[in-house]
Amino acid sequence: MTRISVRVDGASYDDDVEPRTLLVHYLREQLGKVGTVVGCDTSNCGACTVHLDGEAVKSCTVFAVQADGAEVTTIEGVGQDGLHPVQKAFHEMHGLQCGYCTPGMIMASIDLLGENPDPSDDEVREGIEGNLCRCTGYQNIVRAVRHAAAEMRGDGSGPPTDGHAAPAQVDTAAAPHVVGQA
Ligand code: FES
Ligand code: FES
Repeated sequence: MTRISVRVDGASYDDDVEPRTLLVHYLREQLGKVGTVVGCDTSNCGACTVHLDGEAVKSCTVFAVQADGAEVTTIEGVGQDGLHPVQKAFHEMHGLQCGYCTPGMIMASIDLLGENPDPSDDEVREGIEGNLCRCTGYQNIVRAVRHAAAEMRGDGSGPPTDGHAAPAQVDTAAAPHVVGQA
């Protein structure tokens, strides 16, 4: 066991962890931060994305010991004082269906907007390319990120106009099953 000290969502923790413990498992199983989910066994899906010292990382690719002394923000720490603009935009632009990818998508999007406050559609797609969604076809996710960007810049007069209305929300009961821990 190795002792680590870490701040997660604004709270300090001192814990003993096995050197092989992944950050995502530490967050979920030791801290109960189950808002961060596991969607694959292959470091591909991005569902587990958190911020480590301000940068988006796939928490299944980081050992808990690597977070020693670091500041971690999970989806549970985002919008603690009300919905974050990115969370709000995903809701308003129908950027989710089953919602399994959403925590990771939001964490990746916040990181993207920190680096590029006014991304084009292509830049959004590039920025979230490490995050997979099995439901939405990505169109509304891109709209949501650009809508959030406009809101955060202070010129949020409405959704980006690309000539298409946002499709109606799909019946979530019909969404395909996503493998992983809930
Ligand atoms: S669970 Fe981490 S990338 Fe899929
Ligand atoms: S909404 Fe993205 S995986 Fe279902």
